[in-house]
Amino acid sequence: MKKSLIAVAASAVLAMAAASSAQASDVLIGSCIYKFDDTFMTGVRNNMQKAAETLGAEIELVDSQNRQPMQNDQVDTFITKGVNALVINPVDRSAAGPLVDKAKAADLPIVFINREPDKAVLDGWDKAYYVGAKAEESGTIGGQLIAEYFKAHPEADKNKDGKLQYILIKGEQGHQDATLRSEYCVKAMKDAGLEIEEIGADNANWDKVQGHDKMKNFITSLGVDAIEAVLANNDDMALGAVEALKSEGYNLGTDGKDPSKFIPVVGVDATAPALQAISKGQMLGTSLNDAVNQGTAAVRIANQAASGQPVTDEAIGYKITDGKYVWIPYVRVTQENYKDFM
Ligand code: GAL
Ligand code: CA
Repeated sequence: MKKSLIAVAASAVLAMAAASSAQASDVLIGSCIYKFDDTFMTGVRNNMQKAAETLGAEIELVDSQNRQPMQNDQVDTFITKGVNALVINPVDRSAAGPLVDKAKAADLPIVFINREPDKAVLDGWDKAYYVGAKAEESGTIGGQLIAEYFKAHPEADKNKDGKLQYILIKGEQGHQDATLRSEYCVKAMKDAGLEIEEIGADNANWDKVQGHDKMKNFITSLGVDAIEAVLANNDDMALGAVEALKSEGYNLGTDGKDPSKFIPVVGVDATAPALQAISKGQMLGTSLNDAVNQGTAAVRIANQAASGQPVTDEAIGYKITDGKYVWIPYVRVTQENYKDFM
């Protein structure tokens, strides 16, 4: 008797699982990525694909090539084609309004990722969502890493003036991650009680080559000895700065003869090359920008909403705030724990 009840219960569970995956496999998600040639977003994109496979949903990912008008057309094409949900990484987050209007007119769920639209825009449609991370956290982590280093290494104050002379390499202008990471890394250094002086700041648009070139300019104009720390809004730009320092004989880490020639550099993302640079002592640290959980949460919301089911914490496995937001936390990464992220 007992056994058969368990058997009945088990088969009911199996039937439910089968039903929900059969339903899920009918879902087609259309997704635009601001540009495919972006290291962190490539990680998110790959994890979206995996999450869709796991759910039995279909996902079509397209490259908006950093052009908002192109992305608008791609959204029109997805809607004409009959997708059941949209996942959008806008090129220009201030241009999200018309995309929400299109989704609303077609009664489609739309999940924004990585570039946060205004709250008023999201509030205009019940089925509009945002999945991202609080940039304040990663800014704070970067500032704290530098502050801790400076306190533990008195020799890092190269000109012995009791102040930290730093360079700030910022992401794209207007991007919430560039604005907030920049603001909060400076705030964290001050909160840690450091006297700081910004001797250079520039935008390098998340790009390694631009990060390298901007750093090279600072080295040329200020002299490498004037620079005591570099805070970059992401790892690609941090790695570009590391390359520029390497050509001055600094930050060669285990690849070089003099590991003491080191200027602390921090980034954000915890990309594979950044973890490598941290392991070699060429970069001080970073924050994990969690591509796995951001990609997974976005696809689960899209799939759930597309199937006409309520988007709840239980259904998607992530906490939803204000009925619209999923915030994935950043994690501090240094030489002590980088292996956990490889
Ligand atoms: C940030 C990330 C950058 C870049 C940018 C694109 O969150 O740290 O590396 O991918 O998003 O919007
Ligand atoms: Ca100094």
